[in-house]
Amino acid sequence: MPSNILKKKHQVFQFFKYISRSRSAHSVHSPFAYDFYTNILKNKISGQDRKLIQRIRSKGLKNRNIIEHTDMGAGSGGKTYTRKYKRVSRIVKNTAISHKFGEVLYNLVRHYRPQNILEFGTAAGISTLYLALARTEDSQLVTMEGCAETATVARSNFKKAHVKNDIQLLTGNFASVLPVAMEQMPRIDLVYIDGNHTKEPMLEYFNMLLPHVHNDTIFVLDDIHWSGEMTKAWDIIRNNEQVTLSIDLFRMGIIFLKKELSSQHLILRY
Ligand SMILES: C[S@@+](CC[C@H](N)C(=O)[O-])C[C@H]1O[C@@H](n2cnc3c(N)ncnc32)[C@H](O)[C@@H]1O
Repeated sequence: MPSNILKKKHQVFQFFKYISRSRSAHSVHSPFAYDFYTNILKNKISGQDRKLIQRIRSKGLKNRNIIEHTDMGAGSGGKTYTRKYKRVSRIVKNTAISHKFGEVLYNLVRHYRPQNILEFGTAAGISTLYLALARTEDSQLVTMEGCAETATVARSNFKKAHVKNDIQLLTGNFASVLPVAMEQMPRIDLVYIDGNHTKEPMLEYFNMLLPHVHNDTIFVLDDIHWSGEMTKAWDIIRNNEQVTLSIDLFRMGIIFLKKELSSQHLILRY
């Protein structure tokens, strides 16, 4: 069976599993998880920031310029990379985080105030904007992107949002730029992984990050049920001995390492 049909079947199966197992706020008893529910899942983004991101997203969706897109992730079909000409509008449509989940990123940064934020997979920079607009002034935001031409689109979006100087964009394969990022950021407070959706690289990045984490580090993993491989990677990561709380929102998985929390895996309706 072609791999995209297998992936679709997996997503549908996992979605029904999520619907049948996910719980609402009423069944969340831990004070930390309840605080998460109210401040991260229920809170709305400020009107001004929402409008700014919406404006940049809709301009991107109308941008018919063609760029040479280099794919170093799951779309490269096992090769080091593949190249294809793509319209910017298509890149934005197919890769940018939805507003609903962008709001989760924004609220995580607003509420927990991480000082060092690291993103895997900038694409056109839409998710980076949610992180950048929510961050505190003294925090550091590093984002990594393998495709140089897509990174140029992201830089132009950062300029439009007046956050270009607040973001450091590293271009190159994650495996080679991650050590550069970690040199600048020996301690990581929030990491968002949204690129190279395959099991082994995902586990490799997680393991490379572990020496740089601490009790309050938050991991956000995108597309955790995008494929069988991604669900396996998510299951391995959430069962890591350092993880105390994992939250499955179907599209996104969030992990906390706080030792003071009793071990819990929550599947929350969102
Ligand atoms: C899903 S998109 C990111 C979308 C972005 N976070 C957003 O929501 O606006 C994933 C990005 O990761 C990049 N990527 C995938 N694998 C990579 C790798 N091994 N090294 C560097 N970049 C990679 C792709 O080029 C792509 O732009």
